[in-house]
Amino acid sequence: MSKKVIIGNWKMNPSTSKEGDAWFKKIAKLVVKIKKTEVVICPPFLYLEKLSKIRTSKLKLGAQDSFWGDVGPFTGEISSDMLYNSGVRFVILGHSERRALGETNELINKKIKSSLTSGLVPVVCIGEKERDVEHNYFDIVKSQLVDCLKGISRDSISRIIFAYEPVWSISTTENRRDATSSDTREMVMFMRKVLSDISSPQVAHNVRIIYGGSVSGRDAEDFLKNGQVDGLLVGKASLEPKRFFEIIEICEAKV
Ligand code: PGA
Repeated sequence: MSKKVIIGNWKMNPSTSKEGDAWFKKIAKLVVKIKKTEVVICPPFLYLEKLSKIRTSKLKLGAQDSFWGDVGPFTGEISSDMLYNSGVRFVILGHSERRALGETNELINKKIKSSLTSGLVPVVCIGEKERDVEHNYFDIVKSQLVDCLKGISRDSISRIIFAYEPVWSISTTENRRDATSSDTREMVMFMRKVLSDISSPQVAHNVRIIYGGSVSGRDAEDFLKNGQVDGLLVGKASLEPKRFFEIIEICEAKV
């Protein structure tokens, strides 16, 4: 059984590397006694190299995106090999904020393949923008999974972490709503069914599916226990080391 995982997505925060160092060091100190939970911080690219020098076995590093090419004429891009060589071990792919900037399932598929080849663990974000009365959101989630995983072997799928992030529950979404643990449980079951059809029942059963969308210390336990997820992807609440640690402690106590 894989460990539960708590991933902090700092997005485009903080504005100085010094502040990023301070947050990271605080979290590293807080997690020294954590045994059962894998903890990952995904800071902006620019801070990764420096933070990789102070990362510990208890606090790992992830990136918020990577490019599919290895080396070459791709101005502004960063490859998964470069990330791996800088001590990064995880990469968030297909986040809804990147999809909103034009990222497609086809592009995410190429990025997943390249990250797996480099040895990174892709954290693939899946989630509908809204919940319509006709329940079309199930089809949306299904096609995101099917298209993002095209041509990827069972073995490789088993290394991926899937993050169910309904866009309507993310803290920065206008007129956001809270997702409930039963919304999540239902979707996670559906995702496992789709994954079983794409790969195998065993892979679908064992693969880690986590939840993200305005998670805080208030609802982390409910999502982990009743939402039946293997961890959480935390945005806003990861920007304060103490608040982030509350979530880690809840996970550690619930495993
Ligand atoms: P949030 O972000 O926790 O601030 O809603 C989660 C995410 O976008 O990954």
